[in-house]
Amino acid sequence: MRQVPLGASEVGAIGLGCVGMSAEYDPSQQDDTRSLTVLRRAVELGVTLFDTADVYGPFVNEELVGRALGPHRAEVVIATKAGLVHDPDQGREVPNGRPDHLRAACEGSLRRLGVEVIDLYQLHRVDPAVPVEESWGAMAELVARGWVRHLGLCEVEIATLERAHAIHPVTSVQSELSLWTRGPLDEVVPWCERHHATFLPYAPLGRGYLTGTITHARFEQRDIRAGNPRFTDAAIAANRPLVDEIRAVASEVDATPAQVALAWLLGRSPRLVAIPGTKRRRYLEENVAAADLRLAPEHQRRLDALPPPVGERY
Ligand SMILES: NC(=O)c1ccc[n+]([C@@H]2O[C@H](COP(=O)([O-])OP(=O)(O)OC[C@H]3O[C@@H](n4cnc5c(N)ncnc54)[C@H](OP(=O)(O)O)[C@@H]3O)[C@@H](O)[C@H]2O)c1
Repeated sequence: MRQVPLGASEVGAIGLGCVGMSAEYDPSQQDDTRSLTVLRRAVELGVTLFDTADVYGPFVNEELVGRALGPHRAEVVIATKAGLVHDPDQGREVPNGRPDHLRAACEGSLRRLGVEVIDLYQLHRVDPAVPVEESWGAMAELVARGWVRHLGLCEVEIATLERAHAIHPVTSVQSELSLWTRGPLDEVVPWCERHHATFLPYAPLGRGYLTGTITHARFEQRDIRAGNPRFTDAAIAANRPLVDEIRAVASEVDATPAQVALAWLLGRSPRLVAIPGTKRRRYLEENVAAADLRLAPEHQRRLDALPPPVGERY
């Protein structure tokens, strides 16, 4: 697989997002035994970057990832996150970027992952109640203690990146980026290129929509898409022309829509590592194969020209 720099290491251009194994997508289909097989198959296929977070589950996704990757520790790069916590009263995740919380969260992640050091530790959201200097400074201390190798941020703008980078190098930025969510291409991806940081697009398959497999809005209650404006029946129907064009390109290049969506992304920047999420071996193998798919300029142009989607991303 093509390699992309990430801090002092290199990782394959297609990583694996692990949230769906324990939360957010089709909860009734989650099965740890099957997920362990998927995680180990990913290692065999040359996937090196695995993305999780303490809030996925919460906690159980890190345990699963740690259990699967333990025997392969030297071959893989484990990325996790802190700074979002589940609030049972509000029934949703809320930011907590306080230094004491981040230190305790890191100890918990090390224990659940079963590792001595976390390769990439990401601030899941910047807490509006805590200056980023305080959260990032606490995370830099974790690097100094030897608990963490590199630091990343999620969903941030340039001004925040600059403030953090002035204190400790930003190794990665993780934000939503795909054929139907392109915001980071304007400034954040170029910033990463200029500062030798790696950009990790999350939801690179548009939470499954861009693969052409979602045709109606019948989601389980705890599926994250159940409350997402792009996943109402009306939005699913209105955005069908995007999928039709992706499918048309896919048939011309003898690939699947998921592979075209990932290949388009990888063509955007040499500093980009996509982390499609799946709990199924078939999807994993399909997604990994996209690393070898190069789209011709004509196909890139047709995908570049897709209309913006109907519906906000959250
Ligand atoms: N930093 C953040 O705030 C943040 C937010 C969201 C996600 N993330 C990270 O980014 C990763 C990727 O994003 P995501 O998982 O939310 O969204 P995604 O990768 O865009 O989509 C995941 C969905 O697509 C389906 N899928 C995967 N491969 C497929 C294929 N080849 N054909 C058809 N369907 C396919 C999955 O199905 P199955 O589940 O049935 O396999 C799942 O329903 C996450 O796993 C997580 O690690 C980070």
